[in-house]
Amino acid sequence: MSQKVNDFFEKLWANYLEITPSAQKIHSVLGSGKDIINDHVAFRTFNLPNINLGILAAFFEEMGYQEKGQYTFDAKKLKAKHFEHPNKRLPKVFISELCLEQCSDKLNGIVKTLVSQMDSNVICDSSFLYSGTHWKVSYQDYLDLLNESEYAAWLAAFGFRANHFTVSVNDLEDYSTLAEVNGVLKENQFLLNTSGGEIKGSPEVMLEQSATLADMHEMVFSDQEKKIPGCFYEFAYRYPQKCGELYQGFVAASADKIFESTHSR
Ligand code: NI
Repeated sequence: MSQKVNDFFEKLWANYLEITPSAQKIHSVLGSGKDIINDHVAFRTFNLPNINLGILAAFFEEMGYQEKGQYTFDAKKLKAKHFEHPNKRLPKVFISELCLEQCSDKLNGIVKTLVSQMDSNVICDSSFLYSGTHWKVSYQDYLDLLNESEYAAWLAAFGFRANHFTVSVNDLEDYSTLAEVNGVLKENQFLLNTSGGEIKGSPEVMLEQSATLADMHEMVFSDQEKKIPGCFYEFAYRYPQKCGELYQGFVAASADKIFESTHSR
């Protein structure tokens, strides 16, 4: 089983690197050649019956993951859950979904046209989670989605894949604070998401997070090619709870800002 899970994450990572070349460079800067432990990986979807959060989660539950937390992001019209594996070296999984019933008819029309192009047999195993798009989307539809929901536009363009991986700063040998990590990233010319400050969260909420701005990707739309923001890399530092164990949850106010790492620069 664990070989199967490791194999899944290797393929997910390879798929992520295809459009996030900066992650490989950051990996070598922070890890200096050593393995890096991931705190979590994140996925986005629409809350349609055939592809909703529960459908994506089922693949992880099959791998031994268990649901551990629920979150709501009212302004962004998102719901999310996080999942943990008994093997603590495996990353947590954060899955969000856009609540379409809260979105405009126009957005619903575009999304339903895209999703109706999906073949139902593409959702048969966990490889679906790094299968990208199963539809053709025009640049104009992308812009119309972007106008209402950056999240919907990203999902329409990039489909099913890791939206980001997250370095566990606690597990880095050469760094002991998130500020140090951010400093080295900036020295190496990586751009950080400054929405809500470079560091989101605090020792009081037991979690600090930062993220790069998403790498720009030359996207082939059905009508033209355009450079748009793709995936980003996140960094998390966790503080111990009263019992001594590191806090393992997520902080909605911080995650809300992290979503903005895929905004246009
Ligand atoms: Ni994250």
